[in-house]
Amino acid sequence: MGKGSCVTLLLFIGLVSSVYSYDLYKDPSQDVEARVQDLLSRMTLAEKVGQMTQIERGVSNNSVVKDLFIGSVLSGGGSVPDAGNTAEAWQDLVDRLQNDALSTRLGIPMIYGIDAVHGHNNVFGATIFPHNVGLGCTRDPDLVKRIGVATALEVRATGIPYVFAPCIATCRDPRWGRCYESYSESTEVVTSLTDIILGLQGEPANKTAGFPFVADSSKVAACAKHFVGDGGTTNGINENNTVIDYKGLVDIHMAPYFDSIAKGVSTVMISYTSWNGMKMHANKFLVTQVLKYNLKFKGFVISDWEGIDRITSPAGANYTFSIESSINAGLDMIMVPNNYPQFINGLTDLVKGGYINMHRIDDAVTRILRVKFAMGLFEKPLADRSYSKHLGSEEHRSLAREAVRKSLVLLKNGKEAGKPLLPLSKTAAKIIVAGSHANDLGRQCGGWTITWQGGNGTTTKGTTILDAIKGAVSPTTQIVYEPYPQPGFAQSQGADFAIVVVGEPPYAETFGDNLNLTIPEAGIPTIQNVCGEVRCLVILVSGRPLVVEPYLPVMDAFVAAWLPGSEGAGVSDVIFGDYDFVGTLARTWFKSVDQLPMNVGDEKYDPLFPFGYGLKMGTPNSSGGSINFMRRWRLLDISCWAVPLIIHMLKL
Ligand code: BGC
Ligand code: BGC
Repeated sequence: MGKGSCVTLLLFIGLVSSVYSYDLYKDPSQDVEARVQDLLSRMTLAEKVGQMTQIERGVSNNSVVKDLFIGSVLSGGGSVPDAGNTAEAWQDLVDRLQNDALSTRLGIPMIYGIDAVHGHNNVFGATIFPHNVGLGCTRDPDLVKRIGVATALEVRATGIPYVFAPCIATCRDPRWGRCYESYSESTEVVTSLTDIILGLQGEPANKTAGFPFVADSSKVAACAKHFVGDGGTTNGINENNTVIDYKGLVDIHMAPYFDSIAKGVSTVMISYTSWNGMKMHANKFLVTQVLKYNLKFKGFVISDWEGIDRITSPAGANYTFSIESSINAGLDMIMVPNNYPQFINGLTDLVKGGYINMHRIDDAVTRILRVKFAMGLFEKPLADRSYSKHLGSEEHRSLAREAVRKSLVLLKNGKEAGKPLLPLSKTAAKIIVAGSHANDLGRQCGGWTITWQGGNGTTTKGTTILDAIKGAVSPTTQIVYEPYPQPGFAQSQGADFAIVVVGEPPYAETFGDNLNLTIPEAGIPTIQNVCGEVRCLVILVSGRPLVVEPYLPVMDAFVAAWLPGSEGAGVSDVIFGDYDFVGTLARTWFKSVDQLPMNVGDEKYDPLFPFGYGLKMGTPNSSGGSINFMRRWRLLDISCWAVPLIIHMLKL
């Protein structure tokens, strides 16, 4: 063969092999595990470390996603696109970052994550659902599942495929600033509401045995958080120490993870807290042995925000140690989220130095890729702009309104037996509406709304309770609104009755820790001034039970509305009798803070209102009858579920 023909042959072989080169991992007809292994086998250390790195949107400019093979980007609370807080700006942001990721050698899509903890709460105009503390009172897994479906659609409307929700904490002490993110103090209630995962991700055909499941691109990957014991810290101090034996940890705090995993939850976030003095972010026993092996969780484990930094005190004091101990404990993706060079260099050096072995890295990357393949991210990495219409849709708002109706708990109705105040008359001549929370959308939404801490005023679109009342009463009814009524005001009005709406200001995380739990923001003088002068309904807008016992005698009626979100009309639907109350307490209402912690099933249990309590008005739309809380309470008595739970545990 001449030299020329030899070259031609080589060129021909090259051409044929390039045309027929087959990248198995890109083939959607292949099995997820086969795709993962094929892709993993092609990756360099730098590409693997990149997959394990989650950075904040704010540091994601300048093609860092591309240059460092970043596996995930997040928005922290209130971190919105520079171009504006609109569906289009979000889609553009996510697509820009995704195109960065897709332009890398292997084209592995990044996964964008966000806290959608009561609807798509960072986004202007999204439907804001009640916070979990209210949803717990509905005891309605189907409702919560439908909220999951709606939330997934709104999140997809902004091009985002991943949410850091649900929070499945069992809050055992309302002094904790995150108690409103928890459905209940009862593990059983929390567990039943993990059905939200089925709404967010879709319903696996059968038990997935720990395998991450996301049905299609109308769904999102979910994240059960914060593993484990976040709701059990001493005095409810955020990010603190949960002192409890292993059995207690499992029975009270871990049980909802069994169900979340069985329902196919894709990711689990680690808690800032410690268990008996040991930081969860460095706890190999709980993360690797229990979560990954015993509970057979096959999705990825993500850290909390700067969670590994906080392994040491002060935070970040020995970041190398933080990386080593967290990755070796079994964490797969680290929410760095800002100082990514330090994390990437540190992790790379630890692997090269043999302090973290390749097997561990491969486990982490396998899990991250498994989620990405299982959810179809390789096939549909970009925003589907046809979803924009779902953001804040009428359908979702009416679902949120239903959720508000069902989460309200009636705790008192009338000063004397047989003389209820509720349902209120829609045709009264004159009604006073008073209090700091009556006409304030931001306050009724609470923390994690538009911004991390939430804010007062018209922070997004929705209906305040005052607007809802105005919309509910007859055209001839006169409404007098006064946020901060002084003594004598109510009396001078000659009104038929007053509706007083008071409560807590918005807060999130540590900012919400509170040891006295009194009604703030002039709530107490407002109640006293109004209710001392005219028949009154008090509606409390709060993330938890507060001290109310001293003021209860002066109130004619009392309703806990929790943090209802953007649809205030759910409140007017019920107080004017179009619907009856169905909510029952998912938390014990204490008399005084020195009783805390006090939870259902405790030996010493002397509440103001027990767990499971909730009155009805007996309006035509209700099933009738007054309270039957004893029956419900008995059903939820721990003896009924602790035994099956322990049996379930032993089977693992
Ligand atoms: C919270 C998490 C949240 C994360 C990202 C942390 O401070 O503890 O619940 O998912 O921030 O915003
Ligand atoms: C972010 C939150 C995050 C928190 C952690 C804030 O700056 O906005 O999302 O949870 O920091 O401390």
